[in-house]
Amino acid sequence: MMSKTFIGDNHVFLLMVLLTSMTAFTTAFTIPILPTSVPHTPLHSPSHPILISNVLTPSEANSLASSFYDIYSNAILPMQTKIDQTVYHEDVPLSTFLNTVNTSTHTSPIFCFAEGLLSDSPLSSDLTSIRDSVFSPFDPDWFQSFPSSIRPTDCVVLSGAGSTSTLHRDPFEWTGTSLCLSGKKTWRFIKSTPAIESTLSMKRVPSIAWCEIDLSAGWESPNTLFSIVDSFVPAGLTPEPKTSDDLRPDIPLPEGTEVYEVTQNEGDFIIIPKNWIHQTYSTVSSLAVASQRCGLGDVKSVMEHMGERAGVEVELPEEFEADDMEGILGRVLEKVGVEYDEDELDG
Ligand SMILES: [Fe+2]
Repeated sequence: MMSKTFIGDNHVFLLMVLLTSMTAFTTAFTIPILPTSVPHTPLHSPSHPILISNVLTPSEANSLASSFYDIYSNAILPMQTKIDQTVYHEDVPLSTFLNTVNTSTHTSPIFCFAEGLLSDSPLSSDLTSIRDSVFSPFDPDWFQSFPSSIRPTDCVVLSGAGSTSTLHRDPFEWTGTSLCLSGKKTWRFIKSTPAIESTLSMKRVPSIAWCEIDLSAGWESPNTLFSIVDSFVPAGLTPEPKTSDDLRPDIPLPEGTEVYEVTQNEGDFIIIPKNWIHQTYSTVSSLAVASQRCGLGDVKSVMEHMGERAGVEVELPEEFEADDMEGILGRVLEKVGVEYDEDELDG
């Protein structure tokens, strides 16, 4: 952040006006953090974002990160570079990405979301068991009962310093998760309400998790929760935030809006319940794996979401059986023309 010597009285006044108009944000909260050093009961899908620290020790996380870099050293990744609000896409080898990502800044961020890269990966079983260790064995992931052709896939997220994710709500009304393997990033969360969705101009965006099959769509905002506060930097100087305190929403949020924030370090695991709008910001480069699960608390909303997209009326009783879910899934898949193996559907 710029030194105060560059800020005149008028600028201080403008800054105060800006911050006053964003009073909602000044009441930022920290999401619950559960340390793994204290034995805890495995979680059911929570209703509030949660960070569980040290699900992996830093050395375990780094070891997994090293394995990833070894295994995918020749992989081609979809690199994205944002310049003047335009995102440029280029497919590059991982080694090129890693050389380039060191030049990432707040004004010209570099990042990569590699959806499906980990399909059939030797790392998959490790990642699955790490995630399963967090949740109750009595609350399995129903996505594992989905035919493999429509099962959401893990996403490798490589973020350069200064890069953000979009401000979004996940598709499909699932529970999202993120495991950080190296570096760190800041997360901000807002519980979705009609007023917030309207303020943030949230629009439906078909999910890329299922390629051409229109079975899910998320919600995305053109706004950001990580706009640099110091907007009056003298020409020729590049603003770079030093901490997340230097970053604020780019529009005033409705009065009373609660913005939750947490920093995820390597080895930390984040759980994002459905209906929570979220965005990340990387102050340093990071590697994380994003995933999603459909726990007992998600099945009804996931089925209804798929039914809505496919144009199939879905009624799942509160007390449902596996057969109920499989019946609905079968009707939805038939409607969108997806071929599947019935044995696979039976799980
Ligand atoms: Fe997300």
